[in-house]
Amino acid sequence: MIDYSVLYQELESLGAGNWAQLLAEQLADAFDERGHGDLRKWREAVDELPNLKPSRVNLLDSVSIGQSTDVFGQEQQLIQGIQKLHPWRKGPYQLYGVDVDTEWRSDWKWDRLKSHIAPLRNRTVLDIGCGNGYHCWRMLGAGARLVIGIDPTLLSVMQFQAVRKLYAADAAVYLLPLGVEQLPTEMKLFDTVFSMGVLYHRRSPIDHLLELKGCLRPGGELVLETLVVEGGMDTLLFPESRYAQMRNVWFLPSCELLMRWMRRCGFKNIKLCDVAKTTVNEQRSTQWMRFNSLKDFLDPNNAELTCEGLPAPVRAIVVANTD
Ligand SMILES: C[S@@+](CC[C@H](N)C(=O)[O-])C[C@H]1O[C@@H](n2cnc3c(N)ncnc32)[C@H](O)[C@@H]1O
Repeated sequence: MIDYSVLYQELESLGAGNWAQLLAEQLADAFDERGHGDLRKWREAVDELPNLKPSRVNLLDSVSIGQSTDVFGQEQQLIQGIQKLHPWRKGPYQLYGVDVDTEWRSDWKWDRLKSHIAPLRNRTVLDIGCGNGYHCWRMLGAGARLVIGIDPTLLSVMQFQAVRKLYAADAAVYLLPLGVEQLPTEMKLFDTVFSMGVLYHRRSPIDHLLELKGCLRPGGELVLETLVVEGGMDTLLFPESRYAQMRNVWFLPSCELLMRWMRRCGFKNIKLCDVAKTTVNEQRSTQWMRFNSLKDFLDPNNAELTCEGLPAPVRAIVVANTD
């Protein structure tokens, strides 16, 4: 079991002691091997990683931990441990000279948003649906005081643990195996809340926006990234079934409609910062993610459409404040 005692103390000091108590039970449940067949295998993979000390770390421009010269004959053990946690979707990571070239260039998303958000220095940050925590490391690199990521996918949590073990020092960054629905309501705790790539997975997007608002302290900042479609104030795509092969996609609004949703939920200073088409260079199969990827989910004769004939993925970044 991972030791979260420092996090519990942090939460106590932030006045969120109730959550700390609930969390202990939630984590015991989530990490119960009886509930997940592969968890033991992933734990062993993390345990088998060599104990290394990085001579150099860069979290500001990348997530780069250690150099190949720090490894001293344990390269195979390192590479095999990382490989056992396949598929690596979010990244890339440079781990002691091993380039973990992940399915997504998550650094490109970070580059698109970083100049639009309130500086993270000394902020308490929540990243909802954080995957394996790539952006959480970048938030730490940007000076955040405390970063908590949540994601219900256990493999992602174990990948984060692998990176944390290789970081080999205390770090004010935690990834909890939780869904957003497991957070206490109306915490009003965080200075910045990120929800990136989650809204369209929620069956009730308005409730998701209200959940996000409830996590923020007054005057805090939401950074929202989601799939959108072209169109005006009343345009919404609600797929008949799959979207780009994903089963659990519900609502894709136009940017205008998304911002209206946010206004109706009580957000202020709503700013559309970026709209970008997802390219097959940003999301693709690699040696570290050997399954199908975006190219296989698009119409082979028309890259403007998904294989279901729907508009190909376009993502928007919106920032807003609570009162
Ligand atoms: C498209 S990925 C986005 C990952 C990352 N935020 C990014 O932008 O690269 C969506 C993530 O949301 C997570 N997710 C799905 N349902 C969730 C829920 N109920 N609460 C929190 N996260 C959830 C998935 O496990 C997945 O890692």
